[in-house]
Amino acid sequence: MALPQMLIILSLLPLLEAQNPAHANITEIPITNATLDWLSGKWFFIGSAHHNPEYKQAVLKIQADFFHFAPNLTEDTILVREYQTIEDRCVYNSTLLQVQRENGTLSKFESGREHFAKLKLLRKYRAFMLAFALEDEKNRGLSFYADKPDVTPELLKVYQETAKSVGIDESEITYIDWKK
Ligand SMILES: *[C@@H]1O[C@H](CO)[C@@H](O)[C@H](O)[C@H]1NC(C)=O
Ligand SMILES: *[C@@H]1O[C@H](CO)[C@@H](O)[C@H](O)[C@H]1NC(C)=O
Ligand SMILES: *[C@@H]1O[C@H](CO)[C@@H](O)[C@H](O)[C@H]1NC(C)=O
Ligand SMILES: *[C@@H]1O[C@H](CO)[C@@H](O)[C@H](O)[C@H]1NC(C)=O
Ligand SMILES: *[C@@H]1O[C@H](CO)[C@@H](O)[C@H](O)[C@H]1NC(C)=O
Repeated sequence: MALPQMLIILSLLPLLEAQNPAHANITEIPITNATLDWLSGKWFFIGSAHHNPEYKQAVLKIQADFFHFAPNLTEDTILVREYQTIEDRCVYNSTLLQVQRENGTLSKFESGREHFAKLKLLRKYRAFMLAFALEDEKNRGLSFYADKPDVTPELLKVYQETAKSVGIDESEITYIDWKK
C-alpha cells in the first residue's frame, strides 16, 4: 500500500472508533481545523431532548429549522445563519458561536449568559450532536443535526442509544416532522 493511503487509513482509525455506537459516549474530543472545515455547510435540526425547562419550551415551538455554519479558523468562531419555522412563521436569525477547541465545546451568548454545548461528530453519517450539561440531571440535554432532513433508521438508533447512555429516556426525544 502506498504510504499516503496508509497514513490516511491510520489517521481515520480513531474516528472509526469514535463512530461505533457502543462507544457513543460523549467525551471531550478537541476541535481542530479539520473539525471546523467538516462542520462548514448546511445542517438540519432533527430532534432533541432537554431536561432544562427553558430549552425544552423553546424547542417545542420549532416546526422546522435549518442553518448554515461558516467557521472562522483564525477567530475560533462559527457564524450561524439560521432559518426557523416557529408557530407557522418563518424566522431568520444569525448568531456567532464561540469555539473552545481544547475542551471540544461551542458556546453562545444569549440573554446575558453564555450557553455551552459539547460537540460530538458522527462523521460516517454526516451528522452531529450537541450535548448540554450532561453532569446535571436537571438540565442535561442532547440535540441532533444531519446534512439532510430524512435520516436513516441506523442513524436514528445511534441518537437514541447515545441519549440513553447519557441518562435521557427515548420517550423524551422530540423530532422535527420534516414531512410537514
Ligand atoms: C475571520 O475573521 C477575521 C477577523 O475578523 C477576518 O479577517 C477573516 O477574513 C475571517 N475569515 C473568514 C474565512 O471568514
Ligand atoms: C488552523 O487554520 C488557521 C487558518 O487557516 C491557521 O492560521 C492555523 O495555523 C491552523 N491551525 C492548525 C493547528 O493547523
Ligand atoms: C435572534 O437571536 C438573538 C440571540 O440569540 C435573540 O436575542 C433574538 O431574539 C433572535 N431574533 C429573532 C427574530 O428570533
Ligand atoms: C471550555 O474552555 C473554555 C475556555 O478554556 C472555558 O471557558 C469553558 O468553561 C470550558 N467549558 C467546559 C464545558 O468545560
Ligand atoms: C460513559 O463514560 C463514563 C465515563 O468514562 C462511564 O462511567 C460510563 O459507564 C460510560 N457509559 C457508557 C454507556 O459507555
